[in-house]
Amino acid sequence: MNYKKIKKIVKGWSSNIWLIKNDEGKIFVKKEVREKSNRKNLAEREGKMLALANSIKIGPKLIETNYEKNFVIMEYIVGKKFLEFVFSKEFEKMNKKEVYDLIKELLRQGIALDEIGLRHNQLQIGKNILVTKKILKKKIIPIIIDFEKSSLIKGKEKNFGQLTSFLFYNPNGVVAKKIRTKLNLTLN
Ligand SMILES: Nc1ncnc2c1ncn2[C@@H]1O[C@H](COP(=O)(O)OP(=O)(O)O)[C@@H](O)[C@H]1O
Ligand SMILES: [Mg+2]
Repeated sequence: MNYKKIKKIVKGWSSNIWLIKNDEGKIFVKKEVREKSNRKNLAEREGKMLALANSIKIGPKLIETNYEKNFVIMEYIVGKKFLEFVFSKEFEKMNKKEVYDLIKELLRQGIALDEIGLRHNQLQIGKNILVTKKILKKKIIPIIIDFEKSSLIKGKEKNFGQLTSFLFYNPNGVVAKKIRTKLNLTLN
C-alpha cells in the first residue's frame, strides 16, 4: 500500500510521529526514528511488542513495519492523552460510574499485559495512554500506546502496579488527585 504524509504531529526526541493517508484516503499513524537517533532498533522493538499486545487486542492495530527504514505504521487513535483528558470538560462531565468503567478497563489491560509478561515500563505518567470514544457504543475507552521501551520479563510484570499508583496512590500525582476527587477516595 502507498501512503502520503499529511503532517507531523509530534517531533519526539528519538522519533517523529506522522499522520499519513493511504490510496483509499484512510488515515494512519507512522512512527519513524529520526536519523540522528542512535536507538536504531526502536522500530523493531515497537513493532514486535505492539504485535504481541495486539495479539490480546491491546494497543493501536499494527498495520505495517519496515525495520530497515525504521518505521511502523499503525491505527490512528483519535483522542487525548490520559494526562490531558483528566483536565478536559469531557472528564468533568463524567459521572462516577463512567470514570470507574474507564479505569476498570485500563486496569484490565494492565493485568492482561502482565499475564503475557509484557512490561510496558512507561505507564506511570499518562502520556502513553490515549482516551478515545467508541462512537457506536458511546463508550470512552483507554488505548495504551508507545511500546518501544517495553520488555518481556516473566515474573516481573509491573503494569498493574504502575497503573494503580498513577491512577490512585501517587501522593504528588495530578492524575491520581483528580481521580480520587472524582471517586471520593482518600489516602490515609
Ligand atoms: N496510534 C496513534 N494514534 C494517535 N496518536 C498517536 C499514536 N501514536 C502516537 N501518537 C501521538 O504521538 C505521541 C508520541 O508517540 P509515542 O509512541 O508515545 O512516541 P515517543 O516514543 O516519542 O514517546 C503520543 O503521545 C500521541 O500524541
Ligand atoms: Mg510516548
